[in-house]
Amino acid sequence: MRHYPKRTKAIGGYIELQLPKGEEYYPSLIKLNTGRNALEYILKVNNYSSIYIPYFTCEVVLEPIKKLGIQYYFYTIDKNLDPVIDFHIAPTECFLYTNYFGIKQLTVNRLSKEIPNLIIDASQAFFSRPLPQIDTFYSCRKFFGVADGAYLQSNILSTAKFEKDISYDRISHLTKSIDLSVEEGYKNFVENNLVLDKNPIKRMSSLTKRILSSIDYEDCRRIRNQNFKTLHHALSDKNNLEINFADDDAPMCYPLLLEKETISKKLISKRVYIPTFWPNVLRWTTTKMFENYLTQHLVSLPIDHRYDDDDMQRLINYLKQII
Ligand SMILES: Cc1ncc(COP(=O)(O)O)c(C=O)c1O
Repeated sequence: MRHYPKRTKAIGGYIELQLPKGEEYYPSLIKLNTGRNALEYILKVNNYSSIYIPYFTCEVVLEPIKKLGIQYYFYTIDKNLDPVIDFHIAPTECFLYTNYFGIKQLTVNRLSKEIPNLIIDASQAFFSRPLPQIDTFYSCRKFFGVADGAYLQSNILSTAKFEKDISYDRISHLTKSIDLSVEEGYKNFVENNLVLDKNPIKRMSSLTKRILSSIDYEDCRRIRNQNFKTLHHALSDKNNLEINFADDDAPMCYPLLLEKETISKKLISKRVYIPTFWPNVLRWTTTKMFENYLTQHLVSLPIDHRYDDDDMQRLINYLKQII
């Protein structure tokens, strides 16, 4: 374990990377290294014996569950991405729901009143504030240019002392994309993501915290909402996914569900890159299941702070040619 004693502030020497000094979006939440480790924290402090998780989620969610040897059961979601709960949740069990794409706050609100031991995975919903008393975790790199980092609201606090993470050696994709291009940084992005696997719970690194303190969140939020509205206005009649969008959700992306496959592949030649949520779901489900269909047919269109209205119009034009 690397240990750096607190010293007096250095004066002089070389000039360091300069970032604006602002406030984090969740300054009073627990700050950890990754979303999966935030889940591990919740599972540990509550001593849960088993967990219900959706088929439609990222494989890394299983990492803490398997590590702790907790029993897990998959559940299905319906066409509105709402959970189908046809089982009893015992007092020692918990239920994990993902605020999909950041557009499922109404479902989160409802579940918070109905479901005991609810855990909200807000990895896709950074801007949706946690509900009081509901264990909720966020993964920062899905929304911002950081290598790692997670926020956690937990009803029970751990007494364990966690080491602080260090992330300067996994930001090569962030620097390379500025100096070269996003394409040239992609290999580093994949490698830097792999390094996040199988780590112990750590405190958020100083670098990640520093970057997160330099962001204009209101601007990011406004742009996401604006871009989402633009895409929804142009594409909602083609979208097979029912969307109840509140004006201030600032979702992660615009989820477009189409009959046609191969849309994402066709967009690559236009330098539009669409991630698949989530390849592991194809292994976990049969072709008859909605989750399997979703994984193959859902096109998650980027709407973040990097893009303006011209970019959205370009995206809409491409899509109209191939839909
Ligand atoms: C839905 C979901 N939950 C949790 C995680 C875990 O977040 P992290 O990579 O910060 O551990 C991810 C992605 O990795 C995710 O997509």
